[in-house]
Amino acid sequence: MSNISIIGAGGMTAAVGGLAVKAGHTVEVMSRDAAKARALVEQLGTGATTGTFGAAPTGDIVILAVPYIAVLDVVKQYGGKLAGKLLVDITNPIKSDFTGFLTPEDSFGAQEIAKVAPADADIVKAFNTLPSHVLAVGSFERYSLDVFLAGDDAQAKTRVSAFIGSLGLRPMDAGPLFMARTLEHACMLWLGLMTHSVKHAHFSLGVSLPG
Ligand SMILES: NC(=O)c1ccc[n+]([C@@H]2O[C@H](COP(=O)([O-])OP(=O)(O)OC[C@H]3O[C@@H](n4cnc5c(N)ncnc54)[C@H](OP(=O)(O)O)[C@@H]3O)[C@@H](O)[C@H]2O)c1
Repeated sequence: MSNISIIGAGGMTAAVGGLAVKAGHTVEVMSRDAAKARALVEQLGTGATTGTFGAAPTGDIVILAVPYIAVLDVVKQYGGKLAGKLLVDITNPIKSDFTGFLTPEDSFGAQEIAKVAPADADIVKAFNTLPSHVLAVGSFERYSLDVFLAGDDAQAKTRVSAFIGSLGLRPMDAGPLFMARTLEHACMLWLGLMTHSVKHAHFSLGVSLPG
């Protein structure tokens, strides 16, 4: 079992944290709003604790569960306290009107995070293509939800994949960190499908393996 720290106390923390606690992991919730963190920890139950926002996370895996517009400042604020940690970037750097991305043209969210994170932190993009309300339900009877991930460090990806698998979800490694750009675009794909064809939000992107 792993010690997971999650920075942020919103919908994604509730979803990932909920599955993690059920799977027997310990989850530390770190929020700028200590009262929100306490309320969420109470909801998550045994195995969840609150941590102080900005203090050294107790988890070896630290999930960055704040909006993209905040994440670079948050990572800078934590600074060296994230040294040696495995950072899981779940953010989607998408404009609020869904017309494009908040990142520089020649970059992408995970890369921008890597630029401000301690040099010895590993960055793995994961979970960003799964809506929190779908994730919260966990896997369905007939199939596991797919969690796409991307990163440069094979060991870090193995650890994140093991964590994903322990939640009853199916890890799908998409390749090196530059593929995080594609995963960020995949969120835009999800939004386009929701608007133009599926017409509701209760679905997830996944891989079909016929036969
Ligand atoms: N929602 C989804 O379905 C979904 C799916 C995949 C990925 N994601 C990504 O996951 C991340 C979290 O999403 P969410 O749905 O959990 O968001 P959320 O419910 O809005 O929660 C965001 C959390 O970030 C905190 N926060 C916001 N600005 C901050 C700042 N400047 N400094 C420190 N903390 C700050 C909020 O604190 P306060 O409560 O104090 O504002 C809150 O705890 C986002 O990057 C999102 O793009 C979301």
